[in-house]
Amino acid sequence: MPTPPPSSFLWNGRVVVPDDVAPGRLLLDYLRRDLRSVGTKEGCREGDCGACAVLLGELGLDGAVTYRAVPSCMVLVGHVAGRHVVTIEGLNPGRGLSPVQAAVVEHGGSQCGFCTPGFIVSFTGFLLNATEFTTEAAKSSIAGNLCRCTGYVSLVRAGASIASHFDGLTAPGPDRIRALVATGAIPACFDGAASKLAALPSPDRNGRATGDGTSFEAPLGGGTDLIVQQGAKLDEAAPRILLRSESARAPYVEGDHLVMPGDTTFEDLRRCTAFAGLWPLAPKDLERFASGIIRERATVAGNITNASPIADGTAMLLALGAELELSTGAGTRRLPLSKLFLGYKQLALEPGEIIHAVRTPRELAPGRHFSFEKVSKREYLDIATVTTAFSANLHEGTFSCVLLSAGGVGPTPMLLEKTASFLEGKAVCAESVLEAAAVIDTEIAPISDVRGSASYKRLLLRQLFFAHVLKLFPDLVAESELMEVSA
Ligand SMILES: Cc1cc2nc3c(=O)[nH]c(=O)nc-3n(C[C@H](O)[C@H](O)[C@H](O)COP(=O)(O)OP(=O)(O)OC[C@H]3O[C@@H](n4cnc5c(N)ncnc54)[C@H](O)[C@@H]3O)c2cc1C
Ligand code: FES
Ligand code: FES
Repeated sequence: MPTPPPSSFLWNGRVVVPDDVAPGRLLLDYLRRDLRSVGTKEGCREGDCGACAVLLGELGLDGAVTYRAVPSCMVLVGHVAGRHVVTIEGLNPGRGLSPVQAAVVEHGGSQCGFCTPGFIVSFTGFLLNATEFTTEAAKSSIAGNLCRCTGYVSLVRAGASIASHFDGLTAPGPDRIRALVATGAIPACFDGAASKLAALPSPDRNGRATGDGTSFEAPLGGGTDLIVQQGAKLDEAAPRILLRSESARAPYVEGDHLVMPGDTTFEDLRRCTAFAGLWPLAPKDLERFASGIIRERATVAGNITNASPIADGTAMLLALGAELELSTGAGTRRLPLSKLFLGYKQLALEPGEIIHAVRTPRELAPGRHFSFEKVSKREYLDIATVTTAFSANLHEGTFSCVLLSAGGVGPTPMLLEKTASFLEGKAVCAESVLEAAAVIDTEIAPISDVRGSASYKRLLLRQLFFAHVLKLFPDLVAESELMEVSA
């Protein structure tokens, strides 16, 4: 049998060859308009509502297929080559409702039904990947799905019942897939997907995924910024796609460093034991970044290179003292992340240079502390008004090696160097913290915009700096000491 073309992918277990379609076409449009897979709904087209969620399965180096729920409006046809796309039509086992569908019906989780396919996909993704079957975990699996009519209580009840029904399933992997097929939670096409995917050419199995950049110069990671900003331009293009499959882009430890390939996603980081262990709240803090379905696509390099002043990942990495490995076809060089930003959306990158990897220490040195804080209009699933991270050594009651990052208070994400030098060697006490807050004020230049006035952002950063210190050094600084003076 001839090998299918490199653009081929599996759709609900069947090989699809989108050879007359530009790799830059939105998967959502291809599914709904070309394949007439209209169960996948089109809501916001900006990654915000989850109505378009599908499962994306990738063959790992171990021969097992891993499925993640992703928003198909944030995925291009070129992204799914060699992968398995499962839409709502492919989730029903063909003999009545699946247990996930039944739970949503039983708990009154659907009214007009528009959002329902997205919720079913996200809950099924939860069943495929959960490491704990709690109501909280089921709830966080639908954090990227919005419903305008049912109200979330019934959906959370449905999630709780799914979690308790399936508690005790074997670890994620081929055995779990078989167990879920046996219960009718997913159809049999999941079980045979590994061998079908192995027979498809995968553009990134032996290296980087590539398009040739036709009609679209910028390289693409997950596309969660570029698709929102330039989706129409991408439709006819063959962008150069850097996002490889999960097993190829996993972060790894090298000597004293944690190395994140540029296409590592924020959900990869949450799954990476080394990153999750860097500071105690790391997995929780990462949940403040978008939703799970966006974090599955949003890459570390994309967050940095998009150069938004309010990029949360960049704020975290600045305070971790991250270094970039930059590469062109011709060579590589290293650059501290703090030296990358020259001005609003201006970067110290050579033409054609990409972020190959981001390096941080593999662990915080003994006595070193780290904190991340963010204020946004909604606590979850929202971009920041101000975002900041702080790290410092506590040595005999004094600060040393301070790194304080701030986003949303100037044209670029930044390290506040004057404040850091001011704190060097100072006692960890209310007096030095209050004096440092005055230095912060001299280093930032926020502007008023839809997220808040300049003076509000100044106040926010001051309070978030206090929050860092109170969280990390509660025995040395009391909230009352800071609040009385600031009032
Ligand atoms: C609904 C939604 C919610 C969001 N919430 C948040 C949030 O809470 N916090 C936050 O910080 N961001 C948020 N974002 C923004 C976005 O998800 C992140 O900035 C993400 O990390 C971008 O990564 P990407 O791979 O999708 O970038 P892409 O869109 O693929 O690319 C972004 C830029 O980076 C460049 N690029 C990509 N990879 C490389 C590379 N390896 N080397 C050089 N250049 C590269 C591209 O050319 C482009 O200029 C949100 C986005 C959406 C749609
Ligand atoms: S249509 Fe809203 S997330 Fe895709
Ligand atoms: S049931 Fe109508 S939007 Fe959710």
